[in-house]
Amino acid sequence: MIKPNQSTAPLLEVRALSVDYGLKGVSFRAIEDMSFALRAGEAVALVGESGSGKTTTAMSIAGLLPPNARVSSGEVRYRGRRLPIDDDAAMRPHRWSEISVVFQGAMNALNPVHRVVKQIAEPCMLKLGMTREKANGLARELLELVGIPADRGSAFPHELSGGMRQRVMIAMALACRPPIIIGDEPTTALDVITQAQILTLLGKLRSQLNLALILITHDLSVVAETCDRAMIMYAGRIVEEGTVADIFSEPKHPYTKLLIESIPNPATGKKILRPIPGDPPTILNRPSGCAFRSRCSFAMHVCTTDDPRLDPTGRGQVACHLHRSLTQEQKVAAHA
Ligand SMILES: Nc1ncnc2c1ncn2[C@@H]1O[C@H](COP(=O)(O)OP(=O)(O)OP(=O)(O)O)[C@@H](O)[C@H]1O
Ligand code: SF4
Ligand SMILES: [Mg+2]
Repeated sequence: MIKPNQSTAPLLEVRALSVDYGLKGVSFRAIEDMSFALRAGEAVALVGESGSGKTTTAMSIAGLLPPNARVSSGEVRYRGRRLPIDDDAAMRPHRWSEISVVFQGAMNALNPVHRVVKQIAEPCMLKLGMTREKANGLARELLELVGIPADRGSAFPHELSGGMRQRVMIAMALACRPPIIIGDEPTTALDVITQAQILTLLGKLRSQLNLALILITHDLSVVAETCDRAMIMYAGRIVEEGTVADIFSEPKHPYTKLLIESIPNPATGKKILRPIPGDPPTILNRPSGCAFRSRCSFAMHVCTTDDPRLDPTGRGQVACHLHRSLTQEQKVAAHA
């Protein structure tokens, strides 16, 4: 596995990005103040429950936000250049050549009436100006690269298994050789064994092509083998960020701890993913103070009034009053 070269400049920088959705004339914040960097060959996980803003983050970076969304502040830079993420037409030269997205549910994304080789060849012709013959050749090579025999390219999507279809989606995402792939829950609709195979494939492609990967998932257990760093999202914010090793061995945010405890663990006899009690707030009802407080057994008075911001923790960052450097008087006041 290629390790990120920390000395190189970031390929991608997300800086203080906030995105709102308009609903019946009112704006609601879906992601707030997201900042992170991604280097060549690095794999970063974006983890959080449903509604935490993972897809909104991915769609913002790829310039694929729906019409009722608005980038209210911040920016995304690719190799130092600001991307026109709020302009679909201006983003076209960047999408698929610089940043590709692999979505979940390949069956919906693939055209049922076209053979898969044609669907991979099409963007090669459009984006790379290839002749049909050359594009078909590249499509076959890409199929082999993702572990599908080239002659299966003549199949229609319904003739392939779910795992094969997801491999086709990955081949399409790789067609214009982007250095960054965003996988938005790319394995969610698959059975456990196929899920593992797709994650292994992404890891292999990452080393072979020095790809940078943003892997979006609600399941922290898929992160350990695949990623270098993890960002834990809750209610539209990053609440903890660090290396995967640190996050697993020394989680700091109470939410991260619960996410880790929710993972099945054969060593302790825990066989199923145990959901975290309570529900996260939606963008319509974000509470004052810490958005996690109604589910947090460590909540203090200060958590109802003050919204904790991300603070450095040494090698990572966390947004929780338990980890803020409060004075003794502040600590007493916090518990009052
Ligand atoms: N087009 C939209 N209009 C209004 N609200 C939206 C829209 N898309 C998403 N939202 C809301 O924005 C918030 C973040 O949604 P998002 O899809 O980014 O979350 P997610 O973390 O990807 O969730 P999931 O795990 O279910 O895919 C949610 O509260 C969601 O209901
Ligand atoms: S800020 Fe307070 S409520 Fe939020 S996670 Fe930390 S202790 Fe819990
Ligand atoms: Mg999503």
